[in-house]
Order: sequence, then structure tokens, then C-alpha cells
Amino acid sequence: MTGIKVGTDIISIARVQNSLDRFNNKFLDRFLNKNEQIIAKKIETIAGFWAAKEAVAKALGTGIGKELGFLDIEIKKDNNKAPYFEIKSKKFNIIESSLSISHDGGFAIAVAIIVKGNKL
Ligand SMILES: CC(C)(COP(=O)(O)OP(=O)(O)OC[C@H]1O[C@@H](n2cnc3c(N)ncnc32)[C@H](O)[C@@H]1OP(=O)(O)O)[C@@H](O)C(=O)NCCC(=O)NCCS
Repeated sequence: MTGIKVGTDIISIARVQNSLDRFNNKFLDRFLNKNEQIIAKKIETIAGFWAAKEAVAKALGTGIGKELGFLDIEIKKDNNKAPYFEIKSKKFNIIESSLSISHDGGFAIAVAIIVKGNKL
């Protein structure tokens, strides 16, 4: 399917802290690769990355599962510290994408926009 799609997700930062307290690196390794773990140090950033991946999964219409795992999505930051993402698999035929993350009042929220093109 071609066209523009948006996905959003919100998560309680305390919920992420709770998982981190219980499972430590196992929790992080489940959804963040090593590069992401280097740039996501603060708990609100980690929560934002979680929300971002869920938002991407919603924009793609797959959700997180067999078709798309957390680690298939990599979040990076540009020179202005703005987040963006890359997807390992080319099968989704993404031609444009945008990601925004915010956190306040105990919650992290993310919005992802994806434009898909026609398969060549
Ligand atoms: C980017 C900016 C809008 C963030 O707004 P905020 O209300 O402070 O914080 P929010 O919780 O809404 O957003 C924070 C997230 O925005 C994202 N972000 C950071 N820089 C960004 C940028 N240049 N463009 C887009 N998104 C950005 C990050 O994901 C950040 O979360 P993280 O650091 O945990 O990864 C704000 O800090 C800003 O205007 N910065 C540019 C100017 C600047 O650096 N000023 C510093 C003091 S004058």
C-alpha cells in the first residue's frame, strides 16, 4: 500500500523504570540495540524510544511482532539532536519518514510519519 501513514504512542515513564529495575540490561537489550543504548541514557529518553518504536510499528500497520521486531527499528539522532529512525528491512518500501518525541508529566510520547512508495 502506498501513501502517508501516522502512528503515535504514549507510555508512562514509571512503567519503563519499573521494567528497568526488574530486568536491567535484559529489558534494554530486548528493544534497544547497543548504539541506541549509548544515546538513550536518561529514563525519559529510554521511554521516548519505546514510544517511538511503537509509533513506527503503528504507522507501518504491522504492530510489533513477527513481521517487525523492536530491533528492526533503529533510532538515531541528527546533529541537532532531533530523533529519526531507520528500518533494517527494505520490504516496507519507505521513501520518507519523520519522528518526533516529547516527554513531560511522567509520560513520553512519540509520533511517527511514514510515506511508502510503489515497489519497483
Ligand atoms: C528541541 C526542543 C524543542 C525540545 O523541547 P522540550 O520541551 O525541551 O523537550 P521535549 O520533552 O518536548 O522534547 C525532548 C525531545 O525532543 C527531541 N529533540 C531534541 N532536539 C530536537 C530537535 N532539534 N528537533 C526535534 N526534536 C528534538 C528529543 O527526542 C528529545 O528527547 P530526548 O532528549 O530524551 O531524546 C527544545 O529543547 C529546543 O528548542 N531546542 C533547540 C534550542 C536549544 O537547544 N535550546 C537550548 C536552550 S536555549
